[in-house]
Amino acid sequence: MRILLDTANLDEIRYFNTHYPIEGVTTNPTILSKEGGDVLSLLSEIRAIIGEDKELHVQVMESEYEKILEEARAIVAFLGKNTFVKIPITDVGLRATATLAKEGYGITVTALLSAAQAILASNAGASYVAPYVSRLENICDDGIGSVANIAEIFDASGTDTQILAASFKTAKEVLDVAVVGAHAATISPSVMKRLIAHTSTDTSIAGFASDWLRAFGNVTLLDLLKKRK
Ligand code: G3P
Repeated sequence: MRILLDTANLDEIRYFNTHYPIEGVTTNPTILSKEGGDVLSLLSEIRAIIGEDKELHVQVMESEYEKILEEARAIVAFLGKNTFVKIPITDVGLRATATLAKEGYGITVTALLSAAQAILASNAGASYVAPYVSRLENICDDGIGSVANIAEIFDASGTDTQILAASFKTAKEVLDVAVVGAHAATISPSVMKRLIAHTSTDTSIAGFASDWLRAFGNVTLLDLLKKRK
């Protein structure tokens, strides 16, 4: 399962883009609002950090058909290749998705809360559907089960639309969507850190260091290899 970063914070994007195998960055109006300031500069800096080969997902704010088309084309013209236009699932959003997909734009249909919505988005030509996992889990609904249903339906239909699972509050939710067949997940920096964290890993690494020190002292393996030349 591919992993993207769900933030517009430049420091976080720099850090995770350097250290973690992320395949892109996703934003939405709420995420952008947390950073504030000049939104075009912000998006442009995100593109500069991740480079042109990684995905950048940016959501339209317009709600009228022609305006969505205009905004989507302008977003991609501004941010270049591998930019995906996020369009919320509405009647007009589906229509705009169909038009833009036919023109070759990558569309991520977002704010999905059901497998039924995912079928419609896929049939309209979306490249991705973005089901919101924790927003369902938080109301005692089945966010993971919903992703599992979408994966099963997409497998059966043979659609090219991929599942970009979104809205995670726990690392376990991320693991669970991977198990049920999500193609990708977009994750906040805090949940990403929880994916790697394990106290036994820390203990193991500390054990390696102390065992080496006890046996060989302060000399490092690299020191020994360099001296050999
Ligand atoms: O990409 C946006 C999606 O991940 C929403 O997340 O945390 O606002 O439910 P959240």
